[in-house]
Amino acid sequence: MKKEKVLIVGAGGQIGVELTLALRKLYGNDNVVASDIREEHALLKGTGPFVILNAMDATAMHELVKKDGITQIYLLAALLSATGEKDPKKAWDINMNSLLQVLELGVQEKLTKIYWPSSIAVFGPTTPRQETPQKTIVEPRTVYGISKYAGELWCQYYNQRWGLDVRSLRYPGLISWKSEPGGGTTDYAVEIYHEALKHGKYTSFLSENTYLPMMYMDDAIRGTIELMEAPAEQIKSRMSYNLSAMSFSPKEIAAAIQKHIPDFKIDYAPDFRQQIADGWPQSIDDSAARKDWDWKHQFDLEKMTADMLTHLKESLQVA
Ligand code: SER
Repeated sequence: MKKEKVLIVGAGGQIGVELTLALRKLYGNDNVVASDIREEHALLKGTGPFVILNAMDATAMHELVKKDGITQIYLLAALLSATGEKDPKKAWDINMNSLLQVLELGVQEKLTKIYWPSSIAVFGPTTPRQETPQKTIVEPRTVYGISKYAGELWCQYYNQRWGLDVRSLRYPGLISWKSEPGGGTTDYAVEIYHEALKHGKYTSFLSENTYLPMMYMDDAIRGTIELMEAPAEQIKSRMSYNLSAMSFSPKEIAAAIQKHIPDFKIDYAPDFRQQIADGWPQSIDDSAARKDWDWKHQFDLEKMTADMLTHLKESLQVA
């Protein structure tokens, strides 16, 4: 059997850092090449090969794939929802062109698998907001959501037309302590833990009763690897799978933190991200993922909060 060799594009981002570390454990350090447009993330240093790569540079990516004998690509580079709204054309350009280029490379170089993340941002204000089904009304209102939905269709197209084994998950907001998020509407749920430990207070950019689907990074990484390891016949959706773990509001996450830090204070100053959040689902029906490849989440709000605070206390070196 041919040995798999993985390229991660965007390895320095919130998902990339942890996914690179997890895949290195699974496939061996040298079989997972990390790349990013930025310099190597501190947590990746010394754990395996790293190259500077612009996800938009088709020639450089193609050369790297050939030189290193890459068989799988995880394309994680993207502009997220809030950053995307500041420069919509740039977001479209980066999110779409990097994907089309990787799909094309997948066909040309006969890659065995490709992973590309989608998001709850594919849904919009006309979508049913509770227990949003896998297949429903999809009218995204952010450029990020539009690019993710168009991308899902391209993934499905390349699978049907060329037999490319491309797999995808619609992540909810992701909460992590190792690597920080950047430019998302759900980022408040990470910032809040940092600020609670550092300053004992936090001003949320979403209002107190804004419910959004969320997930702890441990679950997201495990889910991604389980999806990628599942036999191809179990992958019934070649668009992207709904994936769910929990749903909470700023007020509820604050209450969960107060169980550990009783003096923690929260106040609210909603900004432009409120409108983005108001157009997204509050909770997600992921029964297709549970049925097709046996997805199960492990972390709820309480368990995640305890784990986040323990790890962040150490890494931020606060008492
Ligand atoms: N977490 C992302 C964002 O807020 C959603 O995919 O943009």
